[in-house]
Amino acid sequence: MTDKTASFGIDGSDRTYPVMEGSVGPDVVDIRKFYGDTGLFTYDPGFTSTASCQSAITFIDGDKGILLHRGYPIDQLAEQSTFMEVAYLLLHGDLPNQAELSEFDYTISRHTMLHEQLATFYRGFRRDAHPMAIMCGVVGALSAFYHDSTDITDPQQRLIASHRLIAKMPTIAAMAHKYSVGQPFLYPDNSLSYTGNFLRMTFGVPAEPYEVNPIIENAMRRIFILHADHEQNASTSTVRLAGSSGANPFACIAAGIACLWGPAHGGANEAALNMLREIGNVKRIPEYIARAKDKNDPFRLMGFGHRVYKNYDPRAKVMQQTADEVLKELNISDPVLDVAKELEHIALHDEYFVEKKLYPNVDFYSGVILNAIGFPTEMFTALFALARTVGWVAQWNEMISDPEQKIGRPRQLYVGATARDYVPLDQR
Ligand code: CMC
Repeated sequence: MTDKTASFGIDGSDRTYPVMEGSVGPDVVDIRKFYGDTGLFTYDPGFTSTASCQSAITFIDGDKGILLHRGYPIDQLAEQSTFMEVAYLLLHGDLPNQAELSEFDYTISRHTMLHEQLATFYRGFRRDAHPMAIMCGVVGALSAFYHDSTDITDPQQRLIASHRLIAKMPTIAAMAHKYSVGQPFLYPDNSLSYTGNFLRMTFGVPAEPYEVNPIIENAMRRIFILHADHEQNASTSTVRLAGSSGANPFACIAAGIACLWGPAHGGANEAALNMLREIGNVKRIPEYIARAKDKNDPFRLMGFGHRVYKNYDPRAKVMQQTADEVLKELNISDPVLDVAKELEHIALHDEYFVEKKLYPNVDFYSGVILNAIGFPTEMFTALFALARTVGWVAQWNEMISDPEQKIGRPRQLYVGATARDYVPLDQR
């Protein structure tokens, strides 16, 4: 708390509230007593001006295009760290030393397998089920299999549940893919890296040895790091809200997956590639730009715009560079990448996009890379969920340990009918 205050004139009298100061970023007005003092609620659909919690995990300066995890810039992490280092950092607050990292790696690798009975769970889904539908179901079902880590009041159980979720997500996502293509599930290979193991479970077959391509492994490492956390976005807030009632962590992460699925959030990577394919060649770009600007057309440029970034999304920069590298190294020429670059160029010089500060976001280029690696479009959001689990779990742990934590319970502005008497059916 600081000495700063903020005053509001309400009905002729001033009400003063304390201002809280973070380590960096905008201060916040503490309005917890506002309703008690004034009988008024504040109105903020979409939480555009409301801080829902204190957090020490991730910082974004949307105007400058800065993203820090525990203080470390995203581009440095994407360039230099492993995904396990980032997972440890998000969970524990600092980068691990060698001994801590080895122990963390070992612990995660000991939880990569799924309860064998979960495999039968998959068979209940249709073959053409969307992987995100499977992810919601299977992750929620983990709470029925791992009862010994659902007591959220026990820090040790919380830690085990966190390790289990991080470790099992690649297995769950890879199995969703295998099921859809009718191939047998592969057990994890703990001698491989987190990403290498995931690639093998996704693209390998039991009949042949699988060699992890280091270029693809490195691209996946970057993609996972770029998606690991993003402060209080919709799915993370969903995880926190679900967790605020005391729900178990597996159920909370399943709720986060459901929220991530939407095209305005994680589903945008799938939607962006579909859009780029639909545009097909650079000549058609002006038509789509015009549609995006037309108020009567619901079409939006997918992979463009962000609630927080009013500048280039720093993740999109790394993603674009990775797309170039992967396509070059794999010797793939994809016209979709040309369409993406030209679309970006045109949009960044168009008055509508400039004025509204709409820039490419993380999802704009990720689809091009994932497509080049060989993932079907439906898997894109599942990969996002896999990587974001680390952030969700870190944020969930932070919330449970926060002494100020309360059940989330937004208020509303009621605009419905006022009290009226029941009318019997024969009189309506
Ligand atoms: N194409 C065309 N116009 C847009 C776009 C876009 N992609 N995004 C925003 N606008 C316009 C919008 O029509 C509005 O115009 P006006 O002020 O005239 O009504 C203005 O820009 C502000 O948009 P908004 O919807 O009020 O902004 P928001 O903060 O509520 O929405 C967003 C942010 C990400 C949902 C939105 O930009 C969008 O729908 N983008 C496309 C979907 C997408 O790429 N989502 C991925 C986000 S990053 C990854 C993640 O978080 O999961």
